[in-house]
Amino acid sequence: MRMIENNTYTSPFSDMLNSSASPLQDQFGRTFNYLRLALNEQCNLRCMYCMPEEGINFRHKDKLLSAEEIFRLLKLSSQMGVSKIRLTGGEPLLRKDLVPIIQYANCLDGVNSVHLTTNGLLLSKYLNSLEQSGLSGLNISLDTMNADKYKIITRRDGLKQVLDGLEKAIDSSIRSIKINVVAMRDFNDQELMDFIDLTKENNITVRFIELMPFDSHQIWKTGKFYGADHIIADIKKQVDELSPIDGSRTEHHIFKVNDYKGKVAVIPAYTRSLCGTCNRLRITADGKLLNCLYSQDETNLRDAMRMGKTDMMIKDMIYGTMKKKFKDGWEAQNQGNENRKSMTQIGG
Ligand code: GTP
Ligand code: 5AD
Ligand code: SF4
Repeated sequence: MRMIENNTYTSPFSDMLNSSASPLQDQFGRTFNYLRLALNEQCNLRCMYCMPEEGINFRHKDKLLSAEEIFRLLKLSSQMGVSKIRLTGGEPLLRKDLVPIIQYANCLDGVNSVHLTTNGLLLSKYLNSLEQSGLSGLNISLDTMNADKYKIITRRDGLKQVLDGLEKAIDSSIRSIKINVVAMRDFNDQELMDFIDLTKENNITVRFIELMPFDSHQIWKTGKFYGADHIIADIKKQVDELSPIDGSRTEHHIFKVNDYKGKVAVIPAYTRSLCGTCNRLRITADGKLLNCLYSQDETNLRDAMRMGKTDMMIKDMIYGTMKKKFKDGWEAQNQGNENRKSMTQIGG
């Protein structure tokens, strides 16, 4: 490999860094062009499968990435081939500099789309500015359309606010609107058709997600797990026609129901049949790079930036981390026994 000197630093990935055509890839040939960046850990809900009700030790603001650090990581990753950016949290709408971050991401060369995953509580309030910032897509988390159940699962009131936000989003110029429903047995399994019916007249995607083990009191162990195959079988019992179509990489199973305008997908987040086509990098709100949702290792990009590392050094850290990605989320999980206390520590 040809080596390039940058002052005193020699990059082991100089061939890749030198060629804009070199994609960010791992040893299995997967290319990473989708960055999920968490903007905060705080949330205005307390979903049972995500956070404990009380006693969460959110990191101090100084530990989280500043807007300048976020801009830098967005720029570097776009130079490395990232073309799709998703901003997550915690709840990203709680971050005051969200709009400038979206605008910055949208202006980067090579970035085709910028998306947001939100719980929707503050959506009505911010929808106009999100539209104006050029946001391409909104994924809205909503597990039930029953107000009492909403309060049970989120431990807060707010269903009406989310539904208002969803309605405005559907009427907006934001081109992709999706609803994320974490599917749980004996909780919302009777609501599959209520959600699917939303796709009849609306060009949106309703996605049922398998419950994952990222919660401190492990409600996923309480019989609530509802696997992708069972969800699909239950949908098939209730609709006339389920035609497979194309979707995103997490939408491993995706269909149109009857002649409805929208789509219905099932995300095998726990069974992990989607790993073979994984295309994503994740950066947590405190600046740690993960090469898999189930990764037990983190690469601390925040401290590297704060220690004055050059752009080339940071890019090397990203190349090196992605290169050693495991074959799938099972192998990644088996490398250790770290138990994350909340999804907000990963960013979804
Ligand atoms: P699209 O780009 O619209 O497909 O969104 P997305 O599914 O990538 O992102 P979103 O934030 O809406 O996540 C939906 C669900 O899929 C969440 O429960 C995520 O935790 C889960 N998910 C997202 N990415 C991955 C992944 O790489 N692996 C697994 N196993 N689950 C994921
Ligand atoms: N299992 C499955 N999905 C989860 N989410 C948060 N925690 C979990 C979990 N333990 C979902 C949210 C949101 C997305 C980013 O991740 O509901 O839709
Ligand atoms: Fe990719 Fe890991 Fe998710 Fe599988 S579990 S799709 S390898 S991030």
